[in-house]
Amino acid sequence: MRILLPLLLLASGVVHAETCDINLKANDAMKFDQRTVTVDQTCKAITINLAHVGKLPAKAMGHNVVVTSSDAFQAVAQAGAKAGLAGDYVPASDPRVIASTKIIGGGETTSTTFAGSLLKAGGAYTFFCSAPGHWMLMRGQLVVK
Ligand code: CO
Repeated sequence: MRILLPLLLLASGVVHAETCDINLKANDAMKFDQRTVTVDQTCKAITINLAHVGKLPAKAMGHNVVVTSSDAFQAVAQAGAKAGLAGDYVPASDPRVIASTKIIGGGETTSTTFAGSLLKAGGAYTFFCSAPGHWMLMRGQLVVK
């Protein structure tokens, strides 16, 4: 154990740095490249990076990333549709929204950072795109370990 401990600390340090970042790609086929993303419960700040690797403009195939508890995501997605493209399809000042990026079109990237304390280990969280109708295909689980 005396020999293993420094190695474990070193390894956890490396993993920790990686698991506070969520890196997602979205495309013109209305899909994210991952269905599950994982972050560490010890993250002080969590950054979501979204890259739209398609070519269509935001008006036709805009994507964002929104995080809510899993039981709220569908209602937030539907409320977001009413906010329109100008509102990034996110309901303004909605306490159910834990994090959200702006809407981007093909070839663009965006990111957002939020406090890790907003997530609880073992909680059920969903990440999704809130562009109208996209949540049906563009969603996945955010796991906090
Ligand atoms: Co989308």
